[in-house]
Amino acid sequence: MSSIIQLKNINKKIREELILRDINLSVTKGEFISIIGPSGSGKSSLLYIIGLLDIPSDGEVFIEGEKVDFTETHKIAHLRNIKFGFIFQFHYLIAEFSLLENVMVPMLKAGRTKEESKERAYLLLQKLGLKGKEKRKPFQISGGEQQRVAIARALANEPIVIIADEPTGNLDSKNTAIVMDIFCNLHLEGKTVIMVTHEIELTERTERIVKMLDGNIIEDIELDKKKC
Ligand SMILES: Nc1ncnc2c1ncn2[C@@H]1O[C@H](COP(=O)(O)OP(=O)(O)OP(=O)(O)O)[C@@H](O)[C@H]1O
Ligand SMILES: [Mg+2]
Repeated sequence: MSSIIQLKNINKKIREELILRDINLSVTKGEFISIIGPSGSGKSSLLYIIGLLDIPSDGEVFIEGEKVDFTETHKIAHLRNIKFGFIFQFHYLIAEFSLLENVMVPMLKAGRTKEESKERAYLLLQKLGLKGKEKRKPFQISGGEQQRVAIARALANEPIVIIADEPTGNLDSKNTAIVMDIFCNLHLEGKTVIMVTHEIELTERTERIVKMLDGNIIEDIELDKKKC
């Protein structure tokens, strides 16, 4: 099967410290992967390299078989904006913007018209159970709802890969279950989902667990393919 993302011999050095060590990872289209490991083991750093938010000190990254040229910063920014959807522990919604406007931002950045962006933002918010709240500001909804808006925003440009860094880190068990159901549905729709988590029980719904320690991948376990 063709890999959608491939990392070859990736090292990341920050001030003489190697925070990623000779990472080799191949992600197949449609996989649902969890990344686990202790604090400081390099999970976020790995996600940033996968999602083209950061560049490695050595090694190669291939997206859909094409080698990424790290000197082409504009091309990388465009690739990042259209291929990846990011979700973090903190939602980073823009406080002054309505939920609708927050979801529209990445589409406008990608060059879609205002009308098209608005129409799609309505649809996405509806899909995530936020119909009727489009005009509210982030502070006027709950934490679980804020995270769903962040997911809607991440899906704005129909990314092929969803990258989530502890997306449920700030949520209670009910909202954690809601977010996991959303990821599960995205996976069943054929999206590739890569999620860092501290909660071991959440990894049971994924198909593959990548374990990190001290900047290394120490285990890469394929679980039974299941309908999450
Ligand atoms: N900008 C930076 N400058 C210096 N050190 C950094 C920087 N970013 C990350 N590190 C170091 O790299 C290592 C890996 O960090 P990373 O954030 O990837 O860990 P993590 O596994 O995501 O941890 P956590 O579970 O706490 O989020 C840590 O030792 C961290 O201190
Ligand atoms: Mg982290």
